[in-house]
Amino acid sequence: MHAYDVVRPLLFGLDPEQAHDLTLQALAGLQHTPASAFWSHRRIADPVLVAGLRFPNRVGLAAGLDKNGACIDGLGALGFGFIEVGTVTPLAQGGNPRPRMFRLPQANALINRLGFNSHGLQAFVANVQRARSFRAAGGIVGLNIGKNAVTPIERTVDDYLIGLEGVFPHADYVCVNISSPNTQNLRELQRDAALDALLGRLQSRRAELQARHSRQVPMFVKIAPDLDEGQVQVIAAALQRHAIDGVIASNTTLSRTAVAGLPHADEAGGLSGAPLLHLSNQVIRWLRAALGDGYPIIGVGGVLSGEDACSKIAAGADLVQIYTGLIYKGPALVGAAASALQRLRR
Ligand SMILES: Cc1cc2nc3c(=O)[nH]c(=O)nc-3n(C[C@H](O)[C@H](O)[C@H](O)COP(=O)(O)O)c2cc1C
Repeated sequence: MHAYDVVRPLLFGLDPEQAHDLTLQALAGLQHTPASAFWSHRRIADPVLVAGLRFPNRVGLAAGLDKNGACIDGLGALGFGFIEVGTVTPLAQGGNPRPRMFRLPQANALINRLGFNSHGLQAFVANVQRARSFRAAGGIVGLNIGKNAVTPIERTVDDYLIGLEGVFPHADYVCVNISSPNTQNLRELQRDAALDALLGRLQSRRAELQARHSRQVPMFVKIAPDLDEGQVQVIAAALQRHAIDGVIASNTTLSRTAVAGLPHADEAGGLSGAPLLHLSNQVIRWLRAALGDGYPIIGVGGVLSGEDACSKIAAGADLVQIYTGLIYKGPALVGAAASALQRLRR
């Protein structure tokens, strides 16, 4: 029996967001103390070079669990090869009213409409700078940027430029999140002209930042699963045209087909976990077909086992991320996924 078999019923007895906040506060408070030995897991060594970065293994934490970057070392101790924190918004904001996170245990799924609750860029950067052990051990830290809810749509690009400028000196990679379903109009940025304008301006700002800081920082774009093949092809062409370094697929889905009739299935927001696996794998396959071999793809959505992680690689991903699976399966999933991917190479 794993420790998580004992912990999970306790956490599931709480409101989902309360369980999340408690766990994260505990990890943040204890991460730099000897108590961290209690949850530290050996990291599977399976190094891989993607977008010029050396990832110690192919399993990462997806964005949104540690929105403020307050817990990189505590979460890193679970055996991840990389940790993506954020989404951070330029200014602090509270997000949507609670309740805004729901468990669908029969489907191993969650629905959330958090809406980018964030302590803001300044606090985020200060937290990221405090991370020590994970990076010292070769862990890769990705910083995920978004826009404030109050920023009008015509000023959206400015928020991303502020985010890029703020996180650039502290990031191993930057992820541009244009696919949260919980910020009005955000997903519109995935469309032709808007995407072109956004990527063009981000790319030229990045060139300036690279010169100013004398360092290269890969930039990835995170997309939704609610796209058809044609839309994926248009996005893929834009990514290549603007020399974006990689794509993360996917964010949560608006679809409820796989959970229809279950308690909470009708809550507004993005659905994550098991029902997302095939949907996001399909997007990965379309991306790989459109982008060709060698273009970095990070696969995320519905990984609850080593086998699920392998299905992302089979679909064309180079790396895999996890969020909801961690809630349902606990920290042992990280090692299970990383060792399943390691075995693929043999
Ligand atoms: C509660 C919650 C909050 C999330 N917040 C963010 C976020 O701030 N930024 C982001 O890019 N993705 C966010 N995501 C999406 C995840 O990073 C991931 O793409 C998605 O959940 C699919 O993976 P999973 O099925 O392993 O959870 C969030 C997901 C959940 C469940």
